Amino acid sequence: MRVFRFEEIDSTNRYLKEKEDKQDYDCVISKIQSAGVGRRGNTWVSKEGMALFSFAVNEKNIFKENQMKTSLMMGISLLHSLKKIENLDYMFKWTNDIYLEGKKLSGILIEKVGEWFIIGIGININNKDFGYASDRATSLINTTGKYYNIEDIVFTIINDFKKALEYNSWEYMLSEINKFNYLKDKEIEVVKENSCIGNGIARNIAYDGTLEVEIDGSIKNFNIGEIHIKR
Ligand code: BTN
Repeated sequence: MRVFRFEEIDSTNRYLKEKEDKQDYDCVISKIQSAGVGRRGNTWVSKEGMALFSFAVNEKNIFKENQMKTSLMMGISLLHSLKKIENLDYMFKWTNDIYLEGKKLSGILIEKVGEWFIIGIGININNKDFGYASDRATSLINTTGKYYNIEDIVFTIINDFKKALEYNSWEYMLSEINKFNYLKDKEIEVVKENSCIGNGIARNIAYDGTLEVEIDGSIKNFNIGEIHIKR
């Protein structure tokens, strides 16, 4: 595994996407990002003390039928890694956020470039500053008061994901995703391009990775959209 370290970069995902000679599990780590990217084109607040990294996985490492579920597999593998590091009550928010004490601890942005999955992860670790997301975010240090070695955490996460791809079945991962399902039984709104496309009670994550939402007594499955929790 090659590691590319930066004091500051615009975005580790951008760097790896544009890198010509990608190798499996190439990893880019930066202390800060000047233009961190979140999902749906959002800005990702990138403060010192966060784990900010991206790594490359060739599609040949992921069973074809599971490729659509890569973000779910990454999310649950990340939750398991975090539990090994500090055994806290993390929850998995479909499709790929980790929550702790009702606040966002980590986000994942996966982009596909040719045959490569570029997996970008931001985790609030040693930072107490969350920029404009301060009312919605938390960090490990906020909860435990402990200071962590960020690189150790990054390498644990990447190695665990590599092993999960090799050994874990989707059935196992899905049961874990449902065990830690943050949205379960919450009243939610599914929003796409600023309009509400569904309103109901979130239930399980289905076998195909979609979210089951109970609307007027029947289940409707959603595979895209932004989730707004009503209560
Ligand atoms: C989200 O929750 O919207 C996903 C956030 C992903 C942020 C990470 S930080 C490292 C990598 N580089 C980026 O520009 N984005 C991802």
